[in-house]
Amino acid sequence: MTVLRLGAGQVRDNAGELGELLADTVAGGASVGFLAPLARPDAVAWWRERADAVAAGRIAVWVARDGGGRVTGTVGLAFPDKPNSRHRAELVKLMVHRDGRGQGLGRRLLTIAEEAAVAAGVTLLHLDTETDSPAEHLYRSAGWTRAGVIPDYAASPAGVLRPTTLYYKQLDAVTW
Ligand SMILES: CC(C)(COP(=O)(O)OP(=O)(O)OC[C@H]1O[C@@H](n2cnc3c(N)ncnc32)[C@H](O)[C@@H]1OP(=O)(O)O)[C@@H](O)C(=O)NCCC(=O)NCCS
Repeated sequence: MTVLRLGAGQVRDNAGELGELLADTVAGGASVGFLAPLARPDAVAWWRERADAVAAGRIAVWVARDGGGRVTGTVGLAFPDKPNSRHRAELVKLMVHRDGRGQGLGRRLLTIAEEAAVAAGVTLLHLDTETDSPAEHLYRSAGWTRAGVIPDYAASPAGVLRPTTLYYKQLDAVTW
């Protein structure tokens, strides 16, 4: 398994496989911003648009590939453009293909994003995730703090409003 940070051109070039991963994640019922069914062309188009954000430095994207070169996971960091928020980033779109889950890749991607945030001088990470989703266990066990729950935050892929749980991690308090 290799994990690489992608430049803007690479996000564009890998949009097909990343779109397939996104469509698989939504088909699996995870709340990552989309309703089901997410057509693959729409998922691919969404990734192509992300390439512009990568080029502008607004997001960073990592991709994991298995031994056969297939995209199996991704994670991102989104950087706010506000002058008073340069110390902060949002962890976004942590996804592992359903075929590859439960083998430690999600935790590895999370660690890579956290370490890259530290290297970039980021001292605070935050995220939101559907309440009671499997991801909550991962974040808690990785030292993230649960800040609270917002009811009816976003619709699940099936279209039902679900709560979200907010988490944060203060990186300057972490001993690596
Ligand atoms: C969340 C996700 C990234 C985890 O990826 P993964 O590769 O399966 O995670 P790992 O194998 O590294 O497991 C990490 C921990 O979560 C636990 N875990 C994984 N899947 C779980 C599940 N379905 N139920 C309960 N715990 C689970 C593992 O046991 C492990 O904990 P442990 O080390 O204490 O045993 C993956 O399930 C996924 O892509 N989900 C859909 C997208 C999503 O919800 N992303 C988060 C959005 S904020």
